Amino acid sequence: MNERRTRILFVDDESNVLSSIRRLLRSESSIWEIFTADSVDRGIECIQADEIDLVVSDFNMPEKDGLELLGWITKNYSLNTVPFIMLTGNAEHDLKRRAINAGAVDLLNKPIMKEDLLARLRNAINVRDYQKSLVDLNAELESRVEERTKELESSRNELLWRLAYATEARDDVTGTHIDSVARLTKQIALSYGLIREQVDCIHLASMLHDIGKIAIPDSILLKPGKLTDDERKHMETHCKSGWYILTRPTNIDGSSSGPNQLLECAAEVALSHHEYWDGHWISIRSQGR
Ligand SMILES: [Fe+2]
Repeated sequence: MNERRTRILFVDDESNVLSSIRRLLRSESSIWEIFTADSVDRGIECIQADEIDLVVSDFNMPEKDGLELLGWITKNYSLNTVPFIMLTGNAEHDLKRRAINAGAVDLLNKPIMKEDLLARLRNAINVRDYQKSLVDLNAELESRVEERTKELESSRNELLWRLAYATEARDDVTGTHIDSVARLTKQIALSYGLIREQVDCIHLASMLHDIGKIAIPDSILLKPGKLTDDERKHMETHCKSGWYILTRPTNIDGSSSGPNQLLECAAEVALSHHEYWDGHWISIRSQGR
């Protein structure tokens, strides 16, 4: 199995230190791939080119020092992705504090002892792997939630269409009225410059505008001739009936399951879809509330 080895970069301007580290880690060559750089700039090039998993850097180097390298890493990567260990002398207490404050995950004293080196590298890599697995798990969960949300939204929309078509089937033999109203409503909403969410909401809500016709008896709804005044008044109640159907509490204790923007919009459309342009017939709204 050709599994990728963990890539560790050592940065130190002293070539004998780098050679010594390579010797000390030879026994781990089957699991760790060692990279070396003799300056901060070369170290940065290596991190960018080779997908380094862990950086161990000396502090004292000509031109740029180890803290500058640490600063560059924190600016360009998450320290969970590329953790950093600082090589320091035993007496450099102030530097150790600064390195930890800047984000170093650990410190390693010079001269480097093999067992100490192995233990600290293993520890840093284990922590990194654990944090990476948490990040991966989190991303997977987010992706699953997004997928389920899309599925729920899709099935909700499908149900709304089916409900609207069921209503339409009673009195529209052509079966095109709801599609036409929804299409035109969407175009009008777009021409008003509404945002995408509002356009989609109005588009879906408009299909339920005649849902109140469920409450109108066949003798009136399907009457071939002209309606009498009483029948006309009864027919006009389908707006209020639609509003009631869409706002009626759904829980047994009389409460609803919380605000639902789509159903609130649909209720508004059902109640007001026979209003005149000047708002005439608004009295239905006051009766309904
Ligand atoms: Fe209507």
